[in-house]
Amino acid sequence: MSQHLEHRAAFETHFIGFLYRQWLMYPKPWPKGTDLSGQTAIVTGSNSGLGFQAARQLCQLGLTHIIVAVRSQARGDAAADKLRKEFPNSTVSVWLLDMASYDSIKAFVQRCETLPRIDITILNAGIRADVYRPHAVTNHEIVFQINYLSTILLAILLLPVLKSKKSVNPATMPPRLTIVTSDTAYWAPPFKSPGPILPQCDISENYVPMAAYPRSKLLQMFFVSKLAEYVDPDDVIINLSNPGLCGGTEFGSSANMGFVSRTIFTIFQGINGRNVSAGTNAILDAVVARGKETHGNYISDWTIQPFPSCYYTKDGQILKEQIWEETLEEFNFVGVSKIIQDMKR
Ligand SMILES: NC(=O)c1ccc[n+]([C@@H]2O[C@H](COP(=O)([O-])OP(=O)(O)OC[C@H]3O[C@@H](n4cnc5c(N)ncnc54)[C@H](OP(=O)(O)O)[C@@H]3O)[C@@H](O)[C@H]2O)c1
Repeated sequence: MSQHLEHRAAFETHFIGFLYRQWLMYPKPWPKGTDLSGQTAIVTGSNSGLGFQAARQLCQLGLTHIIVAVRSQARGDAAADKLRKEFPNSTVSVWLLDMASYDSIKAFVQRCETLPRIDITILNAGIRADVYRPHAVTNHEIVFQINYLSTILLAILLLPVLKSKKSVNPATMPPRLTIVTSDTAYWAPPFKSPGPILPQCDISENYVPMAAYPRSKLLQMFFVSKLAEYVDPDDVIINLSNPGLCGGTEFGSSANMGFVSRTIFTIFQGINGRNVSAGTNAILDAVVARGKETHGNYISDWTIQPFPSCYYTKDGQILKEQIWEETLEEFNFVGVSKIIQDMKR
């Protein structure tokens, strides 16, 4: 664990740290010669907002094949049409992926096996919700389900597929997978301990949206940092990326938000938010500009940033193990433990 990062965690958690990031951190130029021609990328939730911009910016960098992974064929087709018009030299495919369905996730991964190569994967689809809503099948709270459980399951199932697609040419960068997270994780309320952690995300009484969303992102951080220990960065580079607070996406206008919180969010975002292009650039930094040094790390504001302070404490390390064990238990039904163990071979 880097002591340098640990020491910076308190500042980044502070509101001044947030303002510093939003106001004083800017996109950096791409490394000289950045060219994605010949490469294939997958972006989930790419019909709108940061996901759509990520697809655009990848095509701007010469990407050969973009998979627009979306839950609505019509919205995916509309996004693909725009991309095809702007980038006639890129192949744009619309593949259905509903992050609310484990069957859809499994079918999507199977389809990915048919691709000759996969260089970049951006797990961007995510939600927030103003009211408690349980998932119809799993009964998990919906933000926890989509942002954490479904996203992590998709990441795990994709790992062996990505590994199998890595180039035999040692000069080619290994496949990269980033999970789009959020610096709101810095302000996630602590989990109660001792006792099971994940069930705390399902409690419907006193549901607080500004607790559910940051917690779902905090869980991503704990899990991915541990997952990376099982994955050789020469096989797959896995990291987390934060766009920072951004305007110009559907996030604040989501049907999941009520009028009052939408208005407050829009004003706050209008004052402090980056534009969607800069936020997307921050995500792509984690998979285009950088390499193995990002493995298992949290990339934000064009640099490796600390996890929240709690991560670096003794209790935080116990929490990390507990989240790991409970998550693997949750996914026993697809044999994730074996998939993860096999990644070590
Ligand atoms: N905007 C910000 O300030 C900000 C800051 C930090 C992190 N983030 C993260 O950035 C990511 C993208 O957010 P955004 O701001 O671009 O919001 P957005 O415009 O609302 O995009 C969210 C995307 O996720 C998709 N999605 C939602 N539920 C899905 C499901 N069940 N299956 C498949 N796709 C689903 C949406 O598809 P539909 O159109 O079909 O709903 C949409 O394409 C999220 O993970 C968010 O947490 C955003």
